[in-house]
Amino acid sequence: MLRVLVLVSGGGTNLQAIIDKVADGTVKNTEIVGVISNNKGVYALTRAENAGIKNMVVSPKDYKDRAQFNQEFLKAVDSFSPDLIVLAGFLVVIPPEMIDKYEMRIINIHPSLIPSFCGTGFYGLKVHEAALARGVKLTGATVHYVDKGTDTGPIILQKAVQVLPGDTPEVLQRRVMEEAEWQILPEAINMIANEGQTQQ
Ligand code: GAR
Repeated sequence: MLRVLVLVSGGGTNLQAIIDKVADGTVKNTEIVGVISNNKGVYALTRAENAGIKNMVVSPKDYKDRAQFNQEFLKAVDSFSPDLIVLAGFLVVIPPEMIDKYEMRIINIHPSLIPSFCGTGFYGLKVHEAALARGVKLTGATVHYVDKGTDTGPIILQKAVQVLPGDTPEVLQRRVMEEAEWQILPEAINMIANEGQTQQ
């Protein structure tokens, strides 16, 4: 069983996709051992609670500086003994010491086809606003390993999604989630759990 820890910041629709596909057997040999949020009161925590998954909040706001937060955050992550850490809409920079300790064992979902519309400042709706402003006709989502850069780690899976006339950032975000993110994030976990993808 692959022990998966999911890190979230918001609504948690990607977390829900993982929960559902583990429950229905699409994602095999995987146990979601915990959920950590950096924000209190977000719906992702309710989703974890409803699924009976241990969950906790570790917020930078509760620590005197980033170094102290990073230390407590790493302790919290370690307490779940995860084999794989999944960033599912997690908008906090991962401390370098965590990346060293969990090298090639942290994956992220990003709502564009990397290397387009990624890097510092590109997160959530901003990604889709930028795609619409540039006028691309195809966008999509990417699952990649996390290294010390922003969205620069090795790519695991990508899926393209059409941009349609009249799209707003919100409409496009929803289509990218439905047609790409909610499929390729669980699929990547299933690959890692069953094909040893982290060993590459
Ligand atoms: C998702 O679209 C995810 O790709 C994005 O945040 C959203 C979280 O939604 N992540 C990033 O932009 C990371 N750079 P969710 O909380 O409903 O899963």
